Amino acid sequence: MQTKIAGIGHYLPNRIIKNQDLTSYMDTTHEWIVERTGIEERRYAEKHKETSATMGTAAAKIAIERAGISPEDIDFIIFATLSPDYYFPGCGVLLQRELGITKTEIGALDIRNQCSGFVYGLSIADQFIKSGMYKNILLVGAEMHSMGLDFSDEGRAVTVIFGDGAGAVVLQPTEEKDKGILITCLHSDGTHAEELAMISPGSHGGYHLGTEKFGFPDPDIPGGVFVTKKMMDENMLAPNMTGQLVFKTAVVKFPEVIREALTKVGLTSDDIDLFVPHQANLRISQFVQRVMKLPDEKVVNNIQKYGNTTAASIPIALSEAWEQGRVQDGDLICLAAFGSGFTWGSALIRW
Ligand code: UT7
Repeated sequence: MQTKIAGIGHYLPNRIIKNQDLTSYMDTTHEWIVERTGIEERRYAEKHKETSATMGTAAAKIAIERAGISPEDIDFIIFATLSPDYYFPGCGVLLQRELGITKTEIGALDIRNQCSGFVYGLSIADQFIKSGMYKNILLVGAEMHSMGLDFSDEGRAVTVIFGDGAGAVVLQPTEEKDKGILITCLHSDGTHAEELAMISPGSHGGYHLGTEKFGFPDPDIPGGVFVTKKMMDENMLAPNMTGQLVFKTAVVKFPEVIREALTKVGLTSDDIDLFVPHQANLRISQFVQRVMKLPDEKVVNNIQKYGNTTAASIPIALSEAWEQGRVQDGDLICLAAFGSGFTWGSALIRW
């Protein structure tokens, strides 16, 4: 028994934010952003109307329809996001409600693996399908970054990179030989957890795990709150990133984890028909492409139009490539991601 992608879809909000638009809020230029990241524009969802769950729902509806099933057929939901609607509950149950799935013989799981969330989700779904536990798994990656960014000069290195959007797949069992997910490889290294992170709100209550970096006096009560006025006053509720460390680690880990997957199934990079990298930074993807010796037509890049959409980036890119006819029956598709955690992973799929 293997796991196949039976339907795929994506949703991008209408509002286009060009690099030039960001120069009204922060000290940046179109030239800097394009040179360092390749990004020309990104999409922002409609504030106070759309959320990660609503965008995920829109993508899921397309994937479900393309799989030729109805929402009630879904027996398990996996939702990957770092920008959930609520601190809790997770977006999985919100998606269930938005899709009108009223049956309770269904599970909903939220995963927080940031940029590698989709690859992690694929691996989880693959194990559930192979074990025979579920037959129609809905895997969604969705992000509404625009509600959690710092639009001041201080946040510019992070803010210019990210965009909103959602992608979804329906996963089903197949008995067709050599079809579907051939392998997934997952990795993590917590050494650099805070180097690409949004530290607050959190149960640290202001104390940054072992360092004084984010520390401030503890109030004289046994507990505390996840969000304090001090966090807001000191602009601590925004993501931070040591960009160069992330970049340098990513360009090593991407090729490493792709080669690991290829070796484990006895294939080489020449066998790859389409490489769909997490859209972290066009310069990272171009570097990986060179190292893997892949021609342009075998690599999907859409970060120029959408920015980095974290857990949504791979399913959006794969869905767009599928719509463009770049994914054919029998093709070997390679997915790979690296990001916060650090966590990274790869997947090989025979379409
Ligand atoms: O998907 C999640 C994983 N994330 C990533 O893969 C991101 C990996 N990292 C990167 O993509 C790059 O490190 C960035 C694009 C984030 C930054 O590029 P960089 O070449 O590493 O720039 P830097 O952080 O070393 O900054 C270089 C200069 C600094 O100025 P000084 O100190 O040289 O005067 C920054 O202050 O660029 C400045 N800078 C900016 N200037 C204009 C930083 N952000 C901006 C900006 N506009 N938006």
